[in-house]
Amino acid sequence: MDLGSGVGRNAIPIAQMIGKSGGEIICVDYLDVAIDKLHEYIELYNVSKYITGIFSSLEDFVINPDDYDFIIAHSVLTHMENKEKMIQTMKDMAKVTKKNGFVYMYVITNHREFDRKTGKEQKLEDEVEIGFDEACSFLKNIYSGWTILALKKHPYEETFNRRGKEIRWNVDYLLFIAKK
Ligand SMILES: C[S@@+](CC[C@H](N)C(=O)[O-])C[C@H]1O[C@@H](n2cnc3c(N)ncnc32)[C@H](O)[C@@H]1O
Repeated sequence: MDLGSGVGRNAIPIAQMIGKSGGEIICVDYLDVAIDKLHEYIELYNVSKYITGIFSSLEDFVINPDDYDFIIAHSVLTHMENKEKMIQTMKDMAKVTKKNGFVYMYVITNHREFDRKTGKEQKLEDEVEIGFDEACSFLKNIYSGWTILALKKHPYEETFNRRGKEIRWNVDYLLFIAKK
């Protein structure tokens, strides 16, 4: 299952690897344009038999326990409504993974934005704010008893233009991979 799949950047190559041996992937995203594009691309890349796109928010999506071999949440969890719902999704991911299954998360932490010209820190727009250490301690707690295969910090910075203002965007991506 690919949570916040977008247009299928991760699900499509995985479907190309596992589809022929009977694998299926559920992609969930709350943007209609993402799911429409996903449908276009799964046809283009010939994997429509193996991928089902579901138009839903993660907050509303109900997943069955012990159903999935592999769950991905790449760059989506901090876009959720609030921290409680984000943590709940991390817990749900643990619950619905089969024994010997895997979860993979790539989470934005320590997110800060600055006006590049003045250096002044900007208020974040609609993002869950979570520190790297805080996110690690939630994950270690939720996934205790699992084998943690990766728990790493990837510092990242970029500059972009938002509505005419140059923004310096600083984050520490948290990479988490675990086996149940
Ligand atoms: C940064 S993109 C990442 C897309 C994809 N995971 C990738 O790696 O290419 C975030 C995606 O998550 C979706 N998204 C954000 N918040 C969501 C939510 N609460 N429920 C469902 N989808 C969400 C967005 O629509 C967007 O497609």
